[in-house]
Amino acid sequence: MMAGPVKKNSWRKTTISEPAFLSSPLLHCQPEALKTSPVLDLKEIQFTIQKGKEEIPLLQNINLQVPTGHFMAIVGPSGCGKSTLLKLIAGINQETGGSIFWNGRNLSEEGDLEHSEIGYVPQFSIAFEALTVEENIESAVRLRSETKNRAAFDDLVDSVLASTGLEAIRDRQVKVLSGGQRRRLSLALELVTDPVLLLCDEVTSGLDPKSEQEIVELMHQLSRNEHRLVANVTHSLANLDLYDSVLVLDAGRVVYHGPPRALEHYFSVEKAEDVYPRLAKRKTEEWAESWEKHRLAYYESFAFKNPANTESSVSAVTPGALPQFFALLSRRWKIFFRDKGQIFLQLAIMIGFPFLVIIFELEGVEQTRRLSDTLPALSEYKAEQEAMAFNLNLGGVVSGLVMFQVILLTLMGSNNSAREIAGERYIFEKEKLGGVRPVVYIASKLAFLSVLVLLQSFWMAIFVQSVCEIPSQSFVPHLLLLLLVNGAMTAICLGISSLAKTADQASLLSIYLVGFQLPLSGAVLALPEWAGWLSRPFISAYWSWAGIMDGMQRDYFRYIEEVTDTWLAPMWLAFLVLLVHVALGLFIAYIGVKKPRWDN
Ligand SMILES: Nc1ncnc2c1ncn2[C@@H]1O[C@H](COP(=O)(O)OP(=O)(O)OP(=O)(O)O)[C@@H](O)[C@H]1O
Ligand SMILES: [Mg+2]
Repeated sequence: MMAGPVKKNSWRKTTISEPAFLSSPLLHCQPEALKTSPVLDLKEIQFTIQKGKEEIPLLQNINLQVPTGHFMAIVGPSGCGKSTLLKLIAGINQETGGSIFWNGRNLSEEGDLEHSEIGYVPQFSIAFEALTVEENIESAVRLRSETKNRAAFDDLVDSVLASTGLEAIRDRQVKVLSGGQRRRLSLALELVTDPVLLLCDEVTSGLDPKSEQEIVELMHQLSRNEHRLVANVTHSLANLDLYDSVLVLDAGRVVYHGPPRALEHYFSVEKAEDVYPRLAKRKTEEWAESWEKHRLAYYESFAFKNPANTESSVSAVTPGALPQFFALLSRRWKIFFRDKGQIFLQLAIMIGFPFLVIIFELEGVEQTRRLSDTLPALSEYKAEQEAMAFNLNLGGVVSGLVMFQVILLTLMGSNNSAREIAGERYIFEKEKLGGVRPVVYIASKLAFLSVLVLLQSFWMAIFVQSVCEIPSQSFVPHLLLLLLVNGAMTAICLGISSLAKTADQASLLSIYLVGFQLPLSGAVLALPEWAGWLSRPFISAYWSWAGIMDGMQRDYFRYIEEVTDTWLAPMWLAFLVLLVHVALGLFIAYIGVKKPRWDN
């Protein structure tokens, strides 16, 4: 049997003990604002996904009104659509029917809320492990909230640290934080813009009961602000007392939205934990229809209805492209220098690979040093024969030496960028939602990676040249072609990194790409002509090698032509194609990061 609406004015005021950190200015307690604040209003929301020809409804007929200064729990059995609903409200997913209003504004027609107005705390960890709590918050402020001067910046960071109880551990690296501390940090990162809508997805899951209670209390306090609405998805039916309302979803439908106190009464159960088994006893449609009948009466009783519109609080201004660029770049370098293993690997590769080239070509180096004009003068004919054989051999050595340089530089390129985006994808996805521009993000990656590419290529080219004296007409184009092949592979692997699902997948694909450079270049093993023409346009190593060969001293170019069956592209074309590879890689990376990627 279902009960009707509960008595009017029985709104539950919760009393909780307040830890010292909760007296921060971000946490004004103004419950009287409930009736007069802007409201989140969902009308007949539908969300359907297409699977082949079939349409699968994930959310149906969602009607919901929530005032601000309010703390709402979203509960329901696993897979019922809680996260999906939160993403719809956050603007990550687009509803397929119905409308979402905020303060009377139709978000689907008049545009989503500003980046700074929404805080979204996803299920996964969203902070940089190598940075400290304070550095992560500082980075969030730089990227998401414009501050007038250094003092205002410091004040905001301090205030966020204070309001989330993180002051005492501000200098601690994220990698050593406990689960509860990580959740606090996730919330703190969202508070830098003082958002009007704070949406949290299972921020308490996996915590011990005490930590869970603390985090729920923290979210409760954050909701005691006349402009703010805090919604939290949770599996746990404990601590419901701290919420102003509980939204129960079942198979994509609303089956209850009212005060926690009335929950047991509505579902005719003894304790909240019994709601899920009770739900399973009837069809979702029946529960949903019953709720539709009672909804307005409940809203009437609990003052959910018709709150007067007021202007929302002045939200933070998202910083411009340039400050965001420098914030991203300086953070990248900070993370790079903090990872000793990464520095060691980079140095080992950068310095070690050119030595490898020399070692493998040691025999040939002798020959390149001697060059044919220093051959001993034998009888004219014999000398001619020997000179010819020597030069042919030299042609092969020089070609192989250059190809080895090129291949090692492609390997360095893939190592530079394969994990660059995929490894922090969800953090970036969050930051994009918070207002970080994809083009600025890519520009910061380009600036960071360019330094690695320059160092690697210059050292490789100059070191090998100084030992082997490769007979180029001019060393400059040779060096630039090595630089470009490294740059092309770095850019293409950055593109792969932006499309890959995981960092491991991106690494694997990038390594395959490097692995195919050598056989498909046709420089070492001859390819059938048609296969060569098909694959060559995509093989950066081929263009770098062919361009450098074209730039050889003309005497040697003849011998190189003799020892390879492969068509040797002119140098200008090699430059052009490699530049196209760089541009294409960056373009793919931009498209990849622009595309939303939340499913994990
Ligand atoms: N992009 C998608 N494609 C296909 N199915 C999806 C997609 N997103 C969500 N779903 C399905 O929609 C349903 C609701 O998913 P959602 O993540 O919202 O559930 P949930 O209530 O948050 O569950 P949990 O409590 O386990 O986190 C699930 O059955 C899920 O498999
Ligand atoms: Mg979920």
